[in-house]
Amino acid sequence: MIMKNIRLEISKAEQFLAADAVKNMEAEVKAANEALENGTCPGNDFLGWLHLPSSITADHLADLKKTAQVLRENCDTIVVAGIGGSYLGARAVIEALGNSFEWLVNDGKNPVILFAGNNIGEDYLAELCSYLKGRKFGVINISKSGTTTETALAFRLLKKQCEEQRGKETARKVIVAVTDARRGAARVTADKEGYKSFIIPDNVGGRFSVLTPVGLLPIACAGYDIEQLVKGAADMEKATGTDIPTTENPAAVYAAVRNALYATGKKIEILVNFQPKLHSMNEWWKQLYGESEGKDGKGIFPAAVDFTTDLHSMGQWIQDGERTIFETVISVEKSQHTVLFPHDEENLDGLNFLEGRRVDEVNKMAELGTQLAHVDGGVPNLRIAVPELNEYYIGQLIYFFERACGISGNLLGVNPFNQPGVEAYKKNMFALLGKPGYEAESEAIKAKL
Ligand code: PA5
Repeated sequence: MIMKNIRLEISKAEQFLAADAVKNMEAEVKAANEALENGTCPGNDFLGWLHLPSSITADHLADLKKTAQVLRENCDTIVVAGIGGSYLGARAVIEALGNSFEWLVNDGKNPVILFAGNNIGEDYLAELCSYLKGRKFGVINISKSGTTTETALAFRLLKKQCEEQRGKETARKVIVAVTDARRGAARVTADKEGYKSFIIPDNVGGRFSVLTPVGLLPIACAGYDIEQLVKGAADMEKATGTDIPTTENPAAVYAAVRNALYATGKKIEILVNFQPKLHSMNEWWKQLYGESEGKDGKGIFPAAVDFTTDLHSMGQWIQDGERTIFETVISVEKSQHTVLFPHDEENLDGLNFLEGRRVDEVNKMAELGTQLAHVDGGVPNLRIAVPELNEYYIGQLIYFFERACGISGNLLGVNPFNQPGVEAYKKNMFALLGKPGYEAESEAIKAKL
């Protein structure tokens, strides 16, 4: 089997930069990649993701697949409870690989995969519990800290309903925990109840955890090939290592170009797809880059759009608005199905000239036309060509973005692996809700209201 790689094209972005701007960054980018490899960068206690793909063992994958099989055999629906890094990666992969409609209905072969624990919407939770009534559902409870409000709340509801509906003994079989090895409520509950559990390594942060059981277990439950996913990531690990010349390392080049653009005032990066299946991949990417780089008063703002859908809403702004943006387009080269543009007797829409042509050809011309228009409009464009949406290339894409994110954060001069800013709202929320231990914060907030 010939495996191509995903490819990065930068010429339509480079033309907005001074000649040699990227080449001149070569030494700096090389050092940024080496700082990851040598563990000399800020946040170096969170580098467990760096060689994760190549270190995943066949035994570990077999254990994940065995657990997934237990859930698949005993559940028509699996609810994945988790938020942020404990949620977005699994959703991104499952949606990218899945049938656009069938992952929400049980097709007799695969369970329905639902996501919860990622919001505090009362209606969402009420409707979820109501949907699950009478269903043979199981739960994957994912939380590294085990203290995240959204996930803990959903898990309380789901555990109770699962035990009531399916009995305590079956519930023990169909509830699985993915959490810290020793600490947190999810660990304590899993040990007490005797749930099967998997460990999130201490040195892998949430947004870099999709290739740990956080992502691999739900993806295996959905019926996808986690070996190929990991293989794709491992091949990209090789292709982005420090032994690869920087100019031939796609992650290094992507990190260099986006930082060079940022230095010229392009403060917003828009991740673009032309396949609705990649919507959640955009969401995963936004967290990866937003949480890694947005700190110390710096960082490219990661935005995302689904084209051509959003060309009819955001297209105007992108074409003509403030020139502080650049785009990175994920371009999928091969569709999995064939649909031909249909003939219409009356031709009222004037589209019969497309009759008999592949819909994907129309989509590709929309993509090319958009790139030309946006570049003409002053929007630098990068393009990531993905041969097709399968486990292997998605694995490559995930690792490519992770590695580039680490390099990019080092270039920017931030710690890409912490997220101190996300605590601020939690502190206020707990103070407002009267959590014991938050009395001082509560007084300070009252003075502001
Ligand atoms: O990237 C991160 O660290 C966060 O998005 C976390 O993954 C998220 O807050 C969930 O945390 P936890 O897994 O501890 O419940």
